[in-house]
Amino acid sequence: MKILCLNLEQDRERTMISSSPFLISFFLLVSVPVLFVLAPRIMPPKTLPSIPDRDEMDDLALFRRATLASAGGSGGGGLRRRAASPPKIAFMFLTNSDLTFAPLWERFFHGHERLFNVYVHADPSSHLQLPPTPSFRGRFIPAKATQRGSPTLISAARRLLAAALLDDPANAFFALISQHCIPLHSFRFTYHAVLADPGAPPAAHGDGVRRRHRSFIEILAGEPGLMDRYVARGDDVMLPEVSFDQFRVGSQFFILARRHAVLVVRDRRLWKKFKMPCLKSREDSCYPEEHYFPTLLEMQDPEGCSHYTLTRVNWTNSVGGHPHTYRPPEISGDLIKELRKSNSTYSYLFARKFSPDTLDPLLKLADSVIFQD
Ligand SMILES: *[C@@H]1O[C@H](CO)[C@@H](O)[C@H](O)[C@H]1NC(C)=O
Ligand SMILES: *[C@@H]1O[C@H](CO)[C@@H](O)[C@H](O)[C@H]1NC(C)=O
Repeated sequence: MKILCLNLEQDRERTMISSSPFLISFFLLVSVPVLFVLAPRIMPPKTLPSIPDRDEMDDLALFRRATLASAGGSGGGGLRRRAASPPKIAFMFLTNSDLTFAPLWERFFHGHERLFNVYVHADPSSHLQLPPTPSFRGRFIPAKATQRGSPTLISAARRLLAAALLDDPANAFFALISQHCIPLHSFRFTYHAVLADPGAPPAAHGDGVRRRHRSFIEILAGEPGLMDRYVARGDDVMLPEVSFDQFRVGSQFFILARRHAVLVVRDRRLWKKFKMPCLKSREDSCYPEEHYFPTLLEMQDPEGCSHYTLTRVNWTNSVGGHPHTYRPPEISGDLIKELRKSNSTYSYLFARKFSPDTLDPLLKLADSVIFQD
């Protein structure tokens, strides 16, 4: 810039002799800012993969069906329909490879068939075969490719919620479980902890006894690096739908109450922003699935959410966004008891991540420790 200006000064002196060099310099000077304005339109900045249009259209149709089927389901109608069957927990397994811990979960579910449903979203590239056991047999939902650092993980979770909403009106809670996740308590303990939540807010116009179910989802503000995450798709692109002070972060794994599951599946406004791919240059700050759900729920119903998660994760010495993965020598009854301890009034119900070869030592502890309560 400075050099160009100097040229211009010199050119001005020479204008007397000939005006053409001045014109060329002037043209160059003007074209630089014009290029700055136009370049991003002509050549958009490199972005990470986005959602394929086809997948997006399929999802829209599914979400519309789930929303319509649930209309009125969060009010009296839903309660009446649920009265026929006890409330259930929908266990929604999200995997991009295996379901190593299915035998442990099968032991967890055994004997409680009326109180839960299982749904599995497996990345098509995994070619996963579901175990032919009672809880998992035939429980696949139509899945699409998922990738880290892209909004596809949000889509997969929303697809699971929609499928579970449509499948059974008795599904009252929706727990998202990863392939590396294990239960820390018996089914009976888990079911009662979630359904008899003493922290749930009173129903708005209920009979004073019934409480509205609360979602267990981590929602944090003011975390370090939050601004980098906010601008991962570009400066100001989240506006006006989501301002920075409305932007939240939390664990990807949650338990949602039914009315919040409907709210998430119905959302178009925030999704329009969160589905935008991150800029390639901001890849390190791209974790859309850790922001969409906490931000949406905090905007819509903060009092209906716990703000903490019931899934224990060990972030000590984490590398590249991956938490500590437990290996066989670490597995013990004491570890399970340690992992249950939380700072909330609640015990943790689930934990991650566990390497596949911890299955056997965990199965050995199943009856004597994990499912003891
Ligand atoms: C968390 O992980 C670290 C290693 O990164 C380990 O030393 C520590 O024991 C783990 N904490 C618990 C409670 O398992
Ligand atoms: C509980 O809080 C303390 C202090 O903030 C923290 O050091 C500890 O890691 C927390 N424990 C769990 C299980 O979250």
